[in-house]
Amino acid sequence: MTVETTSVRDLIRSRRTIFAFKPDPVPADLVEDLLEAAIWAPNHHFTEPWRFILVGEQTKRTLAESYRQIQLEKATAKDPDGAAECGEKGFQKLMSKPTIVVVSCVQDGDEQRRREDYAATCCAMQNVQLAAWETGVGVQWSTGALTRKAETYQLLDIDAETEYIIGFFYMGYAEKVPRTRRRPLDECLRRTA
Ligand SMILES: Cc1cc2nc3c(=O)[nH]c(=O)nc-3n(C[C@H](O)[C@H](O)[C@H](O)COP(=O)(O)O)c2cc1C
Repeated sequence: MTVETTSVRDLIRSRRTIFAFKPDPVPADLVEDLLEAAIWAPNHHFTEPWRFILVGEQTKRTLAESYRQIQLEKATAKDPDGAAECGEKGFQKLMSKPTIVVVSCVQDGDEQRRREDYAATCCAMQNVQLAAWETGVGVQWSTGALTRKAETYQLLDIDAETEYIIGFFYMGYAEKVPRTRRRPLDECLRRTA
């Protein structure tokens, strides 16, 4: 019997940001299993700064309404006639994300501590993205306007003084896997004597 294994390198290379999902949500126990990969990320002084919120249907709908408002306001400035339609598109776009996880990090201590905790939480987030990809779950990491809105912090009961939303994870099963490219390493690497 051959057991198929995927190397970490293969996962790193093949993972793509997923924008279009099939409607099925990711089962909650699988989401929790994927988030378990997060907590093994490196973190200085064992601050374990990451925090996660698995968003329920009612909250998702409220977020979608909030996104409608963002899109409505953006569109109104350009083309008031088409604004309502843009708002509706925004609402539907958010509703089409099967599963939403909000990722934040605790921000206390001095500037260095804050930077380290932000970096550690980003490491945790990539752990989740790779663990998800391994199980066939696609993720989009979003830092869109909705993630930064004061109303979002209120809705999610996050104190912006002490916690920072790094992003939303939109998760689900990919309808389409985009192609992407990278510059060769040599363009990013310098060697010293
Ligand atoms: C910190 C961070 C923030 C991101 N924010 C967004 C976002 O707001 N909207 C979006 O469409 N993609 C966002 N992305 C995903 C990137 O657009 C994506 O990683 C990039 O296009 C490369 O594609 P790939 O992940 O498939 O390699 C974000 C990624 C990172 C790491």
